[in-house]
Amino acid sequence: MNVLIVGGGGREHAIAASIAKSRHNPKIYAAPGNAGIEQFAELVDIDVMEGERLADFAEKKSIDLTVIGQDDPLVAGITDIFEKRGLRVFGPRKNAAIIEGSKIFAKDLMKKYHIPTGGYESFDSVEKAFAYLETCRMPVVVKADGLALGKGVLICNHLEEAKKAAEDMIQGHKFGDAGSHIVIEEFLTGREVSVLCYCDGTHILPMTSAQDHKRAKDNDEGLNTGGMGAFSPSPFYTKEIQEFCEKNIYRRTMDAMKAEGRDFVGILFVGLILTEDGPKVLEYNARFGDPEAQVVLPRMKNDMIDVIDACLNGSLDKTVLEFEQNAAVCVVLASDGYPESYEKGKRISGLQNFTNKEGYYVFHAGTKRDGGEIITNGGRVLGVTAKGKDLKEARENAYAATDWIQFENKYKRNDIGKSIR
Ligand code: GLY
Repeated sequence: MNVLIVGGGGREHAIAASIAKSRHNPKIYAAPGNAGIEQFAELVDIDVMEGERLADFAEKKSIDLTVIGQDDPLVAGITDIFEKRGLRVFGPRKNAAIIEGSKIFAKDLMKKYHIPTGGYESFDSVEKAFAYLETCRMPVVVKADGLALGKGVLICNHLEEAKKAAEDMIQGHKFGDAGSHIVIEEFLTGREVSVLCYCDGTHILPMTSAQDHKRAKDNDEGLNTGGMGAFSPSPFYTKEIQEFCEKNIYRRTMDAMKAEGRDFVGILFVGLILTEDGPKVLEYNARFGDPEAQVVLPRMKNDMIDVIDACLNGSLDKTVLEFEQNAAVCVVLASDGYPESYEKGKRISGLQNFTNKEGYYVFHAGTKRDGGEIITNGGRVLGVTAKGKDLKEARENAYAATDWIQFENKYKRNDIGKSIR
């Protein structure tokens, strides 16, 4: 069986590692992949946004299944391109990926179908946004409607700050077209939990829970990043909360998308916040989370290709997901200065320490091969994941393993999962 994975980050490395274990013994290709994915896959030098070229490749190489890891090709409609050519592809169509591609669509969907979320209004006029902001209690959240490389969500503590954010997005085109429409949303407080769900258009199967750490520095200080680490499961996601979410959030979202004629087949990422008034949805994504995939997938016992097949065949109701009764923690090793300015091209040593180490993983994100060496090639360089019998042990193991890797300007947070038991 031939499988193509589209993407080149830590998430796609975790997907590749999971698929490589399949009983179907797949030959894996990754476009563009990275220096770590290379361990499992032949790399293909085609950009994720070149849907037609990727489909050409899939036809030429008789690819049986393409798995789309990244959000932007999904939102742009890569699944539709593949399906038109009769190619099997895992990821929502454009009309369903809009749940991530448009924050306004997602919020309007939740309002219409009574899915718990924060109060909000949407705007494309600065004047109207300003008038609304005058009525809001601070802080508020100002969000660009479209994809903005994870940077389009601003928490504003003061009115003037919120007005500037709205103006920068709508009039200043800070995020290009993605910010020409905005959402102004109530600021919610509570524990955040990420739940990634397999979906077959009708049925939805939530995986084990996780939590990421978005800020660059310890104690959740510093700028927002793509994620500096994650842990799974979340001890705050109790059985009672899970049952509430299954009934009032996951099931309802699937039904809502179906009712709108936008059957969702793929991974639905539900970003939850556990407020005093109960769980609410902060955001949806249309793919695996990163770094969440780096702690969730190593704990999954199922054969990933079988689960994806069930999604594509509409038979997910016959699948039972199984996760190991343990925990995993991922600590991201970044280039110092990320997410602002940082240097690349530093030689990485110590990667071989992870070879054949049961329960330890090093997922590549910003790396590249340079002759016989692997060098840094991005802000988030590697995700070091370790399992343990519980979160405490997994955290100790993961931090110990971060010392196995060396590169100049290596930076990490020291408190991933620290506020948990
Ligand atoms: N960790 C958040 C995301 O993948 O968008």
